[in-house]
Amino acid sequence: MELLLNILFVDDDTDIIELYHMALQNESINIYTASNGFDACKTAEGCKIDIAFLDLMMPGLDGIETFSRLKAIDPDMDVVMLTAYGSIESAVEAMRKGAYDYLHKPLEIDKLKTTIRNIIQKRQLSFNLDKKIAELSAIHEATRILSSTTDFDDLALVIMGTIVRVMHADEGMLMLLDKATDELYIKIGKGISEEIVSQQRIKRGEDVSGWVLEQNEPAIIAGNNITADPRFIKVTKHPEVISSIYVPFQVRDEAAGVLVINRTKSRIIFNMDDLILTSIFATEIGSAIERSSTYATLEEKMVELIDLNTKLKELFLNTVKALSSAIDAKDPYTMGHSSQVQRHVIAIASEMNFPSDEKNLMGIIGLLHDIGKIGIKDGVLTKPGVLEQDEWEQIKKHPSIGSEIIKHIDMFEDVSEIILCHHERYDGKGYPCGLKGEQIPLKSRILSVADAFDAMVSKRPYRDSMPREKAIMEIKSGSGTQFDPNIVAFFLRVLEKEDMAIKAIENMDMP
Ligand SMILES: [Fe+2]
Repeated sequence: MELLLNILFVDDDTDIIELYHMALQNESINIYTASNGFDACKTAEGCKIDIAFLDLMMPGLDGIETFSRLKAIDPDMDVVMLTAYGSIESAVEAMRKGAYDYLHKPLEIDKLKTTIRNIIQKRQLSFNLDKKIAELSAIHEATRILSSTTDFDDLALVIMGTIVRVMHADEGMLMLLDKATDELYIKIGKGISEEIVSQQRIKRGEDVSGWVLEQNEPAIIAGNNITADPRFIKVTKHPEVISSIYVPFQVRDEAAGVLVINRTKSRIIFNMDDLILTSIFATEIGSAIERSSTYATLEEKMVELIDLNTKLKELFLNTVKALSSAIDAKDPYTMGHSSQVQRHVIAIASEMNFPSDEKNLMGIIGLLHDIGKIGIKDGVLTKPGVLEQDEWEQIKKHPSIGSEIIKHIDMFEDVSEIILCHHERYDGKGYPCGLKGEQIPLKSRILSVADAFDAMVSKRPYRDSMPREKAIMEIKSGSGTQFDPNIVAFFLRVLEKEDMAIKAIENMDMP
């Protein structure tokens, strides 16, 4: 019999009770007795009674009243009324109120045993049905959570809650192996006191969990006769545990822990079906640990990569600034030109609603657009006055030289072409390739407007700086010939906004 039942006989006739006792002594049941209704209720309050056989005619509380009180204490209790032939009406009334059956006194032992067997069968059927429904919903819930999170602590908590519920267990422990000490400790304890969870350490090979871990073998244990099992002669007895399942689990083919579930109230002993289901959960726990540790490693790597990426970006920007300074150093007359162009191209890109990474790229392009001047002879670059034709031809090489320098840097691959084309003209009369209209990369067309404007408003060795208004007129007159008219329109809007901002500041300064 899988069920370990608690049966209560309530009768004021002690001889009859003794008879029942003797008749049932070889069955796997615990027998409790009471000689009146009050004692019966006390017993039912002290421990879970599965079946009560209740005499209808008793002094003090009568059978019907005792029945009502017992059902109030535990609605799941199956109560069988014992009645003499003369009191059948009361038995029928008890049946109406939910008694399982009524039996005539004097009770035949065979009839008693058949009734107990029928009740066990009914309870087992009902239990199995409840269990299957709970299993299905629990597996569904566990699967949903398993696929939605990689945090092992969350997963373990859910799995332990689920398994304790599904298995109709009263306690559950997820024990993990501490590799440093080769001891099991309780990672999560459901229904286990905080003190035990925090203090219990089991060495490999010791107690049942240590044995299960060492042997990599699961075990079903009947707690109250555990030492009768030759494998566990020396283990500590836990009389409060009625039945337990211990299942080991592995992570990457190595022993990682033991899943334990206990029944301390329910008297149904775990069976092989329970062991199989617990093993499925244990395997899931092993996989969850593996996934979470893989994820944790990935997360660490990601943090390292982000950190490295930040450092690389800083290094990259410093390099760009160093290159820009190198251009300034080469041609002191254009000192600050690159950073002014940078400012203008970022402003145009903002006006054109470029995403922030594209705006940042435009800024870098602005700083580096004349990098090719590094390859031009000093005498030519800084020559005051009008350049000879061959000198001019040399100057015209700076976009190609800049493009060549840049294209050897992986992260500047796209920038190379933009720099190459920054002296192309919208009407196709520019250099070095004579590209026209939208053949010229958009960023080069932006750069062209910003570069020309700043060149005009800056002082050169061969001329003074042009007034801002005149430079604006030049830009407007170059729209559609030298410059892309759309870009000119955006740039004019940028300049207007700058003017408005300057005026606003000037007005604030006025007394
Ligand atoms: Fe240039």
